[in-house]
Amino acid sequence: MQMGQHAPARRTIVHISDTHLLAGGRPLGGAYDTAANLGRMLERVERIEGADALVITGDLTDLGEPDAYRELRGLVDPVARRMGVPVVWVAGNHDERPAMRRDLLRGEASEDPILAVHDLDGLRLIALDSTVPGWHHGELDDAQLAWLRAELATPAPLGTILALHHPPLPSHVPMFDVLELRNQAAFAEAIRGSDVRAILAGHLHYSMSGVFAGIPTHVAAASCYTMDVARPPRTINGMDAGQTFHLVHVYDDQVTSTVVPVEAADPASFFSPEWYARLEEMTPEARLDYFSRKR
Ligand SMILES: [Fe+2]
Ligand SMILES: [Fe+2]
Repeated sequence: MQMGQHAPARRTIVHISDTHLLAGGRPLGGAYDTAANLGRMLERVERIEGADALVITGDLTDLGEPDAYRELRGLVDPVARRMGVPVVWVAGNHDERPAMRRDLLRGEASEDPILAVHDLDGLRLIALDSTVPGWHHGELDDAQLAWLRAELATPAPLGTILALHHPPLPSHVPMFDVLELRNQAAFAEAIRGSDVRAILAGHLHYSMSGVFAGIPTHVAAASCYTMDVARPPRTINGMDAGQTFHLVHVYDDQVTSTVVPVEAADPASFFSPEWYARLEEMTPEARLDYFSRKR
């Protein structure tokens, strides 16, 4: 129901990143229970109503182990099925393309980039592969950018959202730029003038947003562990806290990204279903008076 200037969002995307699963439920770095942390996140994700897709922007596994991909599928697929949404899997630098193709996507094992185009009823969602086999930094090579250009040559009714692992944004964390997405200028050139409306990424393990080539770019933190960026620069480290996912809302003229914490507490009772029903029944003037006027 529209109460303000913007019509309701056309599409809603749940954006998760950096699950870093290890086979057999081994703790990451001996410290982080990545499967349990993802499970807790998925419990919250499943409560989201009206989602159109679930996007996971890479570092799906920590070492590219076949069993880790199967275990990841076992955690995510049932949730996506109950939500009735497709899962868009994006490759990250910790992933291995052959195992990801075979054990997660049930295809043929190969080192070819893992690219995908999803049609969310008019909204095009393109998964890019910014990984470089054997390395942790990112790059979109000429062949992939040519493929992207050809794909974007035909606009989609609701525009396009790109998902890739390495964000095309600077990071203020020391040394993180060693592992950045290279050739960002060529990427910007490839999407200039296209219908790309937002870019979703991961890799940093902290939430961040910026603008790349005029396009809003949203980085989701990690489900496994997050970087404590409140610490002095040279002591920034991972912590088993602060895990969040993002809710991306695609409006007619805007794309927003809302950070949702996994941690929750018992909610207050002020905004009840009865409260909403009462406001919905009011005239716009009465509603403004009741909800906006200071008393
Ligand atoms: Fe990661
Ligand atoms: Fe990464």
